[in-house]
Amino acid sequence: MSLRLGDAAPDFKANTTLGEISFHQYLGDSWGVLFSHPADFTPVCTTELGRTAQLKDEFARRNVKVLAVSVDPLAKHQTWIGDINETQHTTVDFPIIADDNRVVSGLYDMIHPNASETFTVRSLFIIGPDKKVKLIITYPASTGRNFVEVLRVIDSLQLTSKYSVATPADWKSGEDVIVVPAISTEDAQKKFTKGLRIVKPYLRYTPQPDIE
Ligand code: BEZ
Repeated sequence: MSLRLGDAAPDFKANTTLGEISFHQYLGDSWGVLFSHPADFTPVCTTELGRTAQLKDEFARRNVKVLAVSVDPLAKHQTWIGDINETQHTTVDFPIIADDNRVVSGLYDMIHPNASETFTVRSLFIIGPDKKVKLIITYPASTGRNFVEVLRVIDSLQLTSKYSVATPADWKSGEDVIVVPAISTEDAQKKFTKGLRIVKPYLRYTPQPDIE
């Protein structure tokens, strides 16, 4: 059965471009982004991995470790990294899993046979420090993902886990957030000292708690 939000993220050992990795141990106390791409030496994948490398500092600032995966072998990944670095003007220094035995793609249900019998689709999992699955997105091979959106979701997830707030449609970091329904207005008034804007009893905004 495929993974769902809140499920434990399956642990695994895998060969990667940075050596053998034990997934949970590698993540440690960090958040994780595990994302699959269909194949090495393909154009969209080249831009996606390059973009991820360019955003290295953004992921680090959020305490997030990223891992890419495809069913290609290690030697192919190693050669392809040279092309990514050259064409995307960056340095890929996160691990790319060589999942030629399909252990990781099987555990995370990344091969969708009606799309392709052989290649992983563009699956992306965000995993919390509790090793639970917090977000799942799946894109087809032909559509490169928006990694700025991935960072935005991480910001939202981290605010929720720290402050019991949710984020509205199209929210961007710095904008007001929403008080979750589980908190009474009386409690919210004590907890959110920057103030509450009550539009409806169930729609209550407060300034983003972690910025001045
Ligand atoms: C790509 O990365 O460009 C790609 C990979 C598989 C199918 C279509 C596009």
